[in-house]
Amino acid sequence: MILAAGHGKRMKSSLPKVLHPLAGLPLLAHILLRVRDAAPHSPVAIVVGHGREQVESEVRSDSRFSKMDLCFVVQSEQRGTGHAARCVMDSDWGKKRLLLKQSVLVLPGDLPLITRGLLDQLLMPLHRGESMRVLTTILDHPTGYGRIVRRGKVGPVLRIVEEKDANTREKAIREVAVSIYHFDSAFLNFGLQRLSNKNAQGEFYLTDLVSQASRAKKKMDVLVWGDPQELRGINDPYELAQVARILNDRILKQWLLEGVTVMDLVTTWIEPTVRISSGVVIHPGAILTGNTEVAEGAILGPSVVLKDVEVGAGAYLKVGTVAENAKIGAHCQVGPYAHLRPGTVLGIDVKIGNFVELKETRVGNKSSIAHLSYLGDAEVGSRANIGCGFVTCNFDGRVIDGRRKHRTIIEDDVFMGSDCQTVAPVRVGKGAYVASGSTITDDVPADSLAIARSKQVNKIGYALRLRSQQEG
Ligand code: UD1
Ligand code: CA
Repeated sequence: MILAAGHGKRMKSSLPKVLHPLAGLPLLAHILLRVRDAAPHSPVAIVVGHGREQVESEVRSDSRFSKMDLCFVVQSEQRGTGHAARCVMDSDWGKKRLLLKQSVLVLPGDLPLITRGLLDQLLMPLHRGESMRVLTTILDHPTGYGRIVRRGKVGPVLRIVEEKDANTREKAIREVAVSIYHFDSAFLNFGLQRLSNKNAQGEFYLTDLVSQASRAKKKMDVLVWGDPQELRGINDPYELAQVARILNDRILKQWLLEGVTVMDLVTTWIEPTVRISSGVVIHPGAILTGNTEVAEGAILGPSVVLKDVEVGAGAYLKVGTVAENAKIGAHCQVGPYAHLRPGTVLGIDVKIGNFVELKETRVGNKSSIAHLSYLGDAEVGSRANIGCGFVTCNFDGRVIDGRRKHRTIIEDDVFMGSDCQTVAPVRVGKGAYVASGSTITDDVPADSLAIARSKQVNKIGYALRLRSQQEG
């Protein structure tokens, strides 16, 4: 059972709290991925309320969860965690658990850092006669959390007291609850029906099941988790940023131990979906997201930003290279400050220089586009040399054969002089030369020279006469 109906008021956002993105994934998806890995076939109920259509459609549309046995239970009014759990136990999902005598694991939707190891321990079957297992941890700064009240200092757990209901002595307790429990379903169902909302927040508290168990002298297992980092919840944007930092540190550590060089642990951000081979060197400020994959020995210079990009072995992306949905072949050199937009595919050993923008463009092996150019909807063959300041004029406002943008084909071994434009649709044949400063509007046959610029006229002495006139 995942509790995800809360408003998340402290996020100060209209987006439901559990949909706030962390490392490219909604908070709820982090939890679901852990659950999927630890218990792939278990039936999962997600309590939704605030923004429920949005939450449900986000989860339903994510193929990562399509094989899970998921159901959504609506809690139309958020009357507390106990009420949320009650909604689930009153639903068909809850009735089925009771009927089948299956125990129920409760998780909050806002704890994205929990690990597989923690779930495995929690999911161990309850002992015979055990009513519940509750997870606690010790925090240096417990403010805001429910406190674990024990008999004496280390005796059995008596109850959980919420921050707003706690007295000064209770507030000093550093052992806290984190909304993670494993319940015997009959105990859970019975207990939820007996909850009262006579407390500081007027809510039904799931935490009160602990005092019920203790008063009824039921067996209760308390699991004190040693790594509080893992149990960091998210209630406001500041905590979200802190958790993002912790998650990023974990990811960087994992890659470092795999033999990737990350020069700066503070400014490098890598999403969990990214794959990196050993021997890759990552300079400060790199941001790698989505389905990015970086092959062996590639170097990512400072402030390289990649989203869904395949980087070939030994490629060198220099400072400020930005790429999205692109493929960069082995041993390419790109940048500084190159922009590879969606649909860019570079072959092997291609050189893309500074201030070059490519979109929907394929470039063949060993070609070079070294300076200040824009190529869109283009195909460049192998060993072509594109001079400085080249532009494919791919859009003229017309629609031809249903295409708004027109294609430019530059075949193998073409030499494009500097400051040329080609007006698409157009083809420059294999081995052709285009003279500098040309505007090419017609196809250029293979192995020919195209010059499309006005002829130079030198007027001897003209400048001198002009100056003396002005001085006169
Ligand atoms: C809860 C616990 C507290 C614990 C803390 C940290 C209770 C009464 N308190 O407090 O002991 O230290 O979590 O994890 O349980 N939710 C619903 N419906 C509701 C209310 C909440 O689905 O009516 C969901 C929220 O979406 C969230 C989770 O339950 O995922 C926890 O709710 P939240 O408001 O964050 O509880 P806390 O006040 O933090
Ligand atoms: Ca919380």
